[in-house]
Amino acid sequence: MSERTAICPGTFDPLTRGHLDVVERAAALFDRVIVLCAAHSGKRPLFSLAERVELTRAAVAHLDNVGVDAFEGLLVDYVRDAGACAIVKGLRSIDDFHHEQQMAMMNRHMLPDADTVLLVTSPDVQYISSSLVREIWALGGDVGGFVPAPVAEALQHKRQTSQHS
Ligand code: PNS
Repeated sequence: MSERTAICPGTFDPLTRGHLDVVERAAALFDRVIVLCAAHSGKRPLFSLAERVELTRAAVAHLDNVGVDAFEGLLVDYVRDAGACAIVKGLRSIDDFHHEQQMAMMNRHMLPDADTVLLVTSPDVQYISSSLVREIWALGGDVGGFVPAPVAEALQHKRQTSQHS
């Protein structure tokens, strides 16, 4: 049987323990997983795309079948080119569901060969969101419990350098 590849896309600004939970579980379900860091469509990101790729690589280094890449285009184009059979996303709540369902249906219309798999986030990390991590960090709070260690270190470093600039 051919290798089954899944894509885990997101902006990951920053990658949280919730994202990592989904990637680890996808890695157990599929032969190969590519975590795809997307360019930010809206406001200026906290971390550049290159930084997000580097931090994600460090956070998933313990997973043998997981790679990390960056992309700026249409997700389905990347999925098709990678020969992937699934897009894997995390589902924290019913609020996430409406948006995820809409994207899943539009992506499936554009690329019927790939399915979206929504993994219900593990309860211990269900409440974590990147936007709240950014807000808490910007206000001087401790975000170490919400993000993987390499991301926590980068946030700490960013705070120290921004204080001195
Ligand atoms: O971290 P997020 O906000 O859940 O990630 C959303 C993301 C990056 C997966 C989504 O915005 C996306 O797929 N963007 C790529 C552009 C695209 O294909 N848009 C059409 C989606 S139906």
